[in-house]
Amino acid sequence: MMNGKNILLAVSGGIAVYKAVALTSKLTQAGANVKVMMTRHAQEFVPPLSFQVLSKNDVYTDTFDEKDSSVVAHIDLADWADLVIVAPATANLIGKMANGIADDMVTTTLLATEAPVWVAPAMNVHMIKHPAVVRNIERLYRDGVRFIEPEEGYLACGYVGRGRLEEPEKIVQHINHFFQEEEKSLFGKRILVTAGATREKIDPVRYLTNRSSGKMGFQVAEQAALRGAHVTVVTAVKDPLLPSQVEVVAVHSAEDMYQAVMERADKQDAFVMAAAVADYTPAHVFDQKMKKTPGDQTFEMKRTKDILAEVGQTKRADQVVIGFAAETENVAENALRKLEAKKADYIVANDVSREGAGFEGDTNIVTIYGADGSEEALPLLEKREVAEKITEKLARKLGRA
Ligand code: CTP
Repeated sequence: MMNGKNILLAVSGGIAVYKAVALTSKLTQAGANVKVMMTRHAQEFVPPLSFQVLSKNDVYTDTFDEKDSSVVAHIDLADWADLVIVAPATANLIGKMANGIADDMVTTTLLATEAPVWVAPAMNVHMIKHPAVVRNIERLYRDGVRFIEPEEGYLACGYVGRGRLEEPEKIVQHINHFFQEEEKSLFGKRILVTAGATREKIDPVRYLTNRSSGKMGFQVAEQAALRGAHVTVVTAVKDPLLPSQVEVVAVHSAEDMYQAVMERADKQDAFVMAAAVADYTPAHVFDQKMKKTPGDQTFEMKRTKDILAEVGQTKRADQVVIGFAAETENVAENALRKLEAKKADYIVANDVSREGAGFEGDTNIVTIYGADGSEEALPLLEKREVAEKITEKLARKLGRA
């Protein structure tokens, strides 16, 4: 996948620079054209010559060192790249990127490029958890920058913990995978995702909700967007962490979510209904804050509309519908019943009572049941990996893969 691709490697100053040397070698061995740019601090660890020899290209270190007078180097380099990898990315460089600072060759080129940017952080275990770094990473993530998570392990500062630069082989795998996904893209497809808990109002200060964080749906949205789909997320989760190319429709209640989905249903190629929609909502909403009275209180609740069932039952033949089922018993039986009742193409079922599956964590264990009789049981995976599987199924079903 790497063959003939132009990869620009940005190297910032940390002890992990030596791994960037190995990465340069692995990328060129995989057939990529590699150009390297380094910050001043990176050059304290390894001289540019090492990168020059391995990449067989000039190394860029200074915005004002124009190697070819017919072009402006940082713009030329930015345009040349099919993909930019920042490895290692220090807290300082991440901070500059998040704030649009361009005060050297690396940061100026990063601002000028329109190529996808992958960042592989490497820093001390406490630095990576610092609110400022977390905030900067979140901001870049929302800007569409992708991250290669640092590993747990022994750090040069003597600590053991998260912060070690991912191994060069793994970084190459990530990039390879990215180019593969680009090939079988969902380009031009419109996908609507519902995610997270709904909020059912009782009075101006109270509502009923559940534990769903929306992570599973957000991951599907990100993966579909990565493959070029136009993704709309309908959610009641406040300030969802999503890349900026994903359109977010903010709702509160099950009824709002129903309206938002149905208004947009016609235009979609696919639906992924990952929201934990309330099945019941208060029959009466109080205009003023309810005052407590002596004794107990009983609420009358009414059923909400089943959005998945409505979409499944009214969908066109060319639209694909995926639903979820969170169960604590008889998973297969319940999932198959939902598949049939809601006329979905797939139901992604999980047993939320199992360790590693469920609402708030980062992992899930699911089985995907298809209306075509298919059944795919997946092992314990990161929610991101489950989202990849779901998007791949979607791409296949939409005739793209
Ligand atoms: N769903 C929906 N609208 C609702 C309720 C559920 O779109 N009002 C969707 C969810 O997003 C999910 C699937 O339906 O994709 C879950 O099915 P459901 O039968 O509602 O699950 P439970 O609420 O767990 O149902 P049950 O009480 O029957 O287990």
